[in-house]
Amino acid sequence: MQHKSREGFNSRLGALLAIAGSAIGLGNLWKFPYMVGDNGGSIFILFYLIFVVLICLPVMLSELVFGRNTQRNIFGAFRKLAPNTSWRFVGVISIVAAFVILSFYSVVAGWTLEYIFQSVRNAFAGQTAEQIGQFFADFSSSTFRPLLWHIIFMALTACIVLFGVRRGIERCSKLLMPLLFLLIVMLAVRTATLPGAAEGIQFLFRPDWSKFSTQTLVGALGQAFFSLSLGMGVMATYASYIPKKEPLVKTAVQSSIADTTFALIAAVAIVPAVFAFGLAPTQGPGLAFVALPTVFQQMPGGTIFAVIFFVIFLLAALTSSISILEVQVAYWVEEFHVGRRKATLLTTLVTAAVGVFCSLSFGVLSDFKILGKTFFELMDFLATNVLLPVGSLLFVMFVGWRMSKATMHRELSMGAGRKMRAVSLVIFFVVRYVAPIAIVLVLLSGFFKL
Ligand code: TRP
Repeated sequence: MQHKSREGFNSRLGALLAIAGSAIGLGNLWKFPYMVGDNGGSIFILFYLIFVVLICLPVMLSELVFGRNTQRNIFGAFRKLAPNTSWRFVGVISIVAAFVILSFYSVVAGWTLEYIFQSVRNAFAGQTAEQIGQFFADFSSSTFRPLLWHIIFMALTACIVLFGVRRGIERCSKLLMPLLFLLIVMLAVRTATLPGAAEGIQFLFRPDWSKFSTQTLVGALGQAFFSLSLGMGVMATYASYIPKKEPLVKTAVQSSIADTTFALIAAVAIVPAVFAFGLAPTQGPGLAFVALPTVFQQMPGGTIFAVIFFVIFLLAALTSSISILEVQVAYWVEEFHVGRRKATLLTTLVTAAVGVFCSLSFGVLSDFKILGKTFFELMDFLATNVLLPVGSLLFVMFVGWRMSKATMHRELSMGAGRKMRAVSLVIFFVVRYVAPIAIVLVLLSGFFKL
């Protein structure tokens, strides 16, 4: 079914910033630095970079081609390219994954609102690392405040998506992304020049092979997929709004560079600061919410930088969550002809409701475990270790084995000013042979950790 007036991005810059906005998120600020810390620093970074270039970039390009070629939501896109086959259920996996990710993503994003509030009040002044750790434990396990922030965050996300692709997503990305880069650079310059930070910089950039393990490999690959928003129809959905005259290769390369650069700057802003104050970078998820506030309250001018840090967090999360919500909204609007407003409200409500359980699983529901995991951990595991890899695997197999080389070649060449035959051959090679094997390894490793 063809839609009369499908909205699209207004400019290439707008599309680029929206894609980069989706990619840059909690993954870069929260997960990347602690995974770097947990996995031996530079070695992890090295493999991360290799995977971004060799595997993720081709996969991202195939998602962009797939989306722009069909100009549909992820489910409709499969229906168009492989009519009357079960392939469309791959689209369903993506939509379910989007839903699951957003439910816990918005909980962590909500925490940042509390931390902005507390930083503005200068509430951490004079507190020790233990006290701040206790605050985090108390806050995240309480019932009402995290829920309140979670709901406010979901409402913010919904407000932007309600305005549509051009007036909501594109405008907001154009406004927020430059601001985000400016702020993270300011922060990195400040923290990386703290006395004692040099040791942390070394930890980040001097390879230490003794830390190498297979966990480093699969961890880096999984993180690269997550950080570039792959395997969940986000890139395909955004690409479906890109006009045919725009060059996709350029957009993919630039947004991958933006995302990777941002992750590296975030690591430079966070890890050396942690070293400078004698804290360990290996404390996992608490790094951003415990170690960093401790660092800030000890450093001169720390209050303002704490506010900046958590505002960065919030903006980065917001430009990602709108992309995740859009995957679902586009589906309802196009496949069921629900109005945009109704679709946004509905998906927001249902996602927020599941998020409530994620939030409570840090407190009153902490003893309620499925497969040994709390509800939050289960959602995270289901999305990151099951749905994303399975969705990505089926997706790359579809592109590799069912999509025609001519389509790929044509889409990549549009607006590029030259033929992209070599690029499309490389992409086919990667999505046919390399990416499926790599994804299966990530999938298996997720289960062995279970
Ligand atoms: N890439 C985002 C981050 O780094 C998260 C995200 C947004 C995502 N959309 C996604 C992850 C799609 C996987 C799939 O925080």
